[in-house]
Amino acid sequence: MRVLLAGGAGYIGAHTAVALLDAGHEAVLLDSLDNTSAIVEQRIAQITGKEAPLVTGDAADDEVVESAFAQHGPFDAIIHFAARKAVGESTQQPLEYYANNLDSTFALLRVGLAHGIRSFVFSSTGTVYSDPADLPFTEESTRHLVELSNPYSRSKLMNEVVLQDVQRVHPELNVTSLRYFNPVGAHASGLIGEDPKGIPNNLMPFVARVAVGRLERINVFGDDYDTPDGTGQRDYIHVVDLAEGHVAALEKSRPGFFAYNLGTGQPVSVLELIASFERAIGRELPKVIAPRRPGDMAATYCDPSKAERELGWKARFTIDDMTRDVWNWQQKNPDGYQG
Ligand code: WQD
Repeated sequence: MRVLLAGGAGYIGAHTAVALLDAGHEAVLLDSLDNTSAIVEQRIAQITGKEAPLVTGDAADDEVVESAFAQHGPFDAIIHFAARKAVGESTQQPLEYYANNLDSTFALLRVGLAHGIRSFVFSSTGTVYSDPADLPFTEESTRHLVELSNPYSRSKLMNEVVLQDVQRVHPELNVTSLRYFNPVGAHASGLIGEDPKGIPNNLMPFVARVAVGRLERINVFGDDYDTPDGTGQRDYIHVVDLAEGHVAALEKSRPGFFAYNLGTGQPVSVLELIASFERAIGRELPKVIAPRRPGDMAATYCDPSKAERELGWKARFTIDDMTRDVWNWQQKNPDGYQG
């Protein structure tokens, strides 16, 4: 299949491009480069020995999407990664988040449908589930828009509703919404990885920068949660497992709207992740217990069995694989792509 990856030069997009090329498919990247680097295109070529051409521009602009089709089409499918995704930032910039995260979907659908794409895979999130009483989350777990804690998660749930309504009037179209839990890790080559700009919001890149000496110490946001060791639990999934989940979804594409949790189903606490990272580097890391972060849930993790049943996909990597591969990426790229 020939696939257009909107946001394809980003962390998850680049890993998915590698997985698609390795599986014999073709990939074209469309990216504004607001939150990544053009160097990713050559890193993908280095890893796979194949080209994933990069079209630079905003996926929310119909003319930009049209130019990607004109230059590199036709495409069988679109995978839509292009979104702002910082939960905290979204509470400060709701309009920017709703506009960017919805307008990009509208533009990609308008142009993609006009060109007859057969499949639209959407990068969604496990943060669309609104009731902790439902843990472990299945695809049918409660998703109440007004009960979600931030505009980012709400924009993702709104996207899913739009996609479901559009699919209803295009019955031949496949729409697959992949609800990611916590993507971490990096390709074994260490050539591509997570490279957030500024001080990372997320735990894993923050720990990696402490380990490489760019940050002083880890702040553990609360140790008084109702969890075994008191720190927050998340369902961390290796980004290579996640990428392979996208390939499985495309290869199992069939008309209809489908949603799948992509996670391991194994909750890992903050202290457990840090301990895994310390095993990977062979030394302790400086850490301090800090106040809870507003909006954080004590625990979130999924039941991933539907993806295994229907897509034949199951996460393979452990938390030790994830921290080992993050450390390999961080050591080889101490200043990320800018280095
Ligand atoms: C994980 C745990 C924190 C930083 C992210 C993305 C969101 C979504 C889901 C895709 C929590 C703790 C964190 C730190 C800490 N991704 N923590 N010190 O909040 O689950 O959300 O994944 O949709 O977009 O933001 O991930 O890595 O920020 O936090 O103690 O410096 O680590 O309290 O328990 P989160 P995170």
